[in-house]
This record gives sequence, C-alpha cells and structure tokens, in this order.
Amino acid sequence: MPSLSVDVGGLRLKNPVMLAAGILGTTGASLRRAALAGAGGVVTKSLGTSPREGHPGPTVVQVECGLLNAMGLPNPSYREFQEEIEIARTGGAPVVASIFGSSPEEFAQIARGLKADAFELNLSCPHAENYGSELGRFPAMVEAVTGAVKAAADAPVWVKLTPNTADIVELGLAAQRGGADAVVAINTLKAMAIDIESGCPILGNGLGGLSGQAIKPVAVRCIYELAMRLEIPVIGVGGVGSWEDAVEMMMAGASAVQVGTAMLKGYGVFEEITGGLSRFLERKSLELEELRFMAGRRS
Ligand code: SIN
Repeated sequence: MPSLSVDVGGLRLKNPVMLAAGILGTTGASLRRAALAGAGGVVTKSLGTSPREGHPGPTVVQVECGLLNAMGLPNPSYREFQEEIEIARTGGAPVVASIFGSSPEEFAQIARGLKADAFELNLSCPHAENYGSELGRFPAMVEAVTGAVKAAADAPVWVKLTPNTADIVELGLAAQRGGADAVVAINTLKAMAIDIESGCPILGNGLGGLSGQAIKPVAVRCIYELAMRLEIPVIGVGGVGSWEDAVEMMMAGASAVQVGTAMLKGYGVFEEITGGLSRFLERKSLELEELRFMAGRRS
C-alpha cells in the first residue's frame, strides 16, 4: 500500500484527511474519537478570548446539497478549552486549535496562552460581527493578524481564508507575507434560506454560511488559484465527502484536506476516504505527492 503520511504546514500527519473546524470539535472526547477513527489531524471549534453563547437558534438548517449554519462562534473561551485539547491529544493525531479574535492583539493573546500542535486562524466566518471575514476580507489585516500570531505562538500557524471575496489569492498572499505556514481554503459561502409560509429567514441570525457538496467546485477553484501563486501549502476544505473529492482537491493543489459537513455520515468517513485514496494511488501507480497540483501541471 502507498504511504499516506504527509508533512503539511509544519505538522507531520499519518494521512492527509483531517477533521475540519466546527463539526464535532466542541469536546476533547469527540476530537479524540475522530482521531481514533483515522483522522490524520483534528481541528477544534473556534476559540475566543472569553465565553460566547453564539447566535440565537435555529443555528443550523439542512438545505439542498449542504448545510446552512450561523452558530455565532459559541465557545467556552480558550482558557476553558485547554483540558479538552489534552483529552483530544490522547487520540494520537495532531490537534489544531481554531482561534478567532477582533484584533491582531486578541489573536496573539490566545496563541500565547493556549497549547496546541498548530493554530488555525479563523479569518473567515461570514456571519459574526467584528470577527471572521469582517477582518479577513482585508489583506492588510490578514497580514497583521498572521504576523502577530507568528510572533506569539510556538506552533505552526495556518490561516483559514474566506471565499466571500473577489480575489482569494490576494488574501492568501497576505497570509504568506505574515509568515503563515499554510492556508486553509475555504470557509463557508455567505448564504440565506427563507421559510416561505411565514416569510421569515430560517436561521436565527438571518444570514449564515453554506457548507457541503454544493460548495465543492468553489473550493476546488479557490485551491487551484492559491496553489498557482503561493509557496506555502494549501489545505483544502469545502464539500469533501468521498475519496474522489479528496483526490480532486489534491489535484487542484491541496496538500491535505479537511472533512466537515460529511461528518453527518459518521466517524467511518475517515477510513472510507483514506482507504479509497490508497486504492486509487495503487491502481494508478502514483505516490501521494504526485497528485498534488496535477491539474495545474497538466493545464
Ligand atoms: C460559527 O460558529 O458560526 C461558524 C464558524 C465559522 O463559520 O467559521
């Protein structure tokens, strides 16, 4: 069987299929379970400086080809979550802390105080006032936040980018200038659903972010554009639900992928994807590294 282990953004992973931020990342036990089920790495739910309840419900709704969510970054604060990270680590896979703040200083405060194997900077949540893409759509702010966290952290720094912009490459280049070890693309697409009987928006927050199968072609395009221009690795996320999706994202330029919405299928999804990936590499007589950016080299 071909080796699936990969060095990406300062971490060595036993395979390139990770648990994405947000889904099942709210407790150490669920992160550990994902690691034991075969995830190459796991990412926590985003953590801030102080406890936050998040948006009023409903916070998640199933729509055609995906999920619409507006959780509002609920979390117990990074201080309260350290113990959960220690539990997650017993699963044997690197634990990446997703963090958010309203300024470079807030991000740096968390990176100084929290111990994790890497940090993923949430500069891309599309529906939280003063956070996420409200900072992350400005290249200068992406560079400043990344630089501040790099100076404060003693672990690799990944930057999760928003697709809700005219030019994601500009944001990726800003992260790279700030010293990022990798970029993660993409977070959810800003979206909305309305209940036609009442005429009311379905989500408590009105607007939310779309994830799942529907956004995969957008993610593939963003990964491809980033891989063409960046020197640092790109980690792909957005609609990965099968080994074929993982292969496609790697061919677009991803060094690893993350699984979010497809976790609705259960923890077995990691073995399903890594198994299919191995068999594909064997059938094609390819090494994992040869998949990366194949579409770029062939276009
Ligand atoms: C949320 O907590 O609302 C989702 C976070 C995100 O979209 O990054």
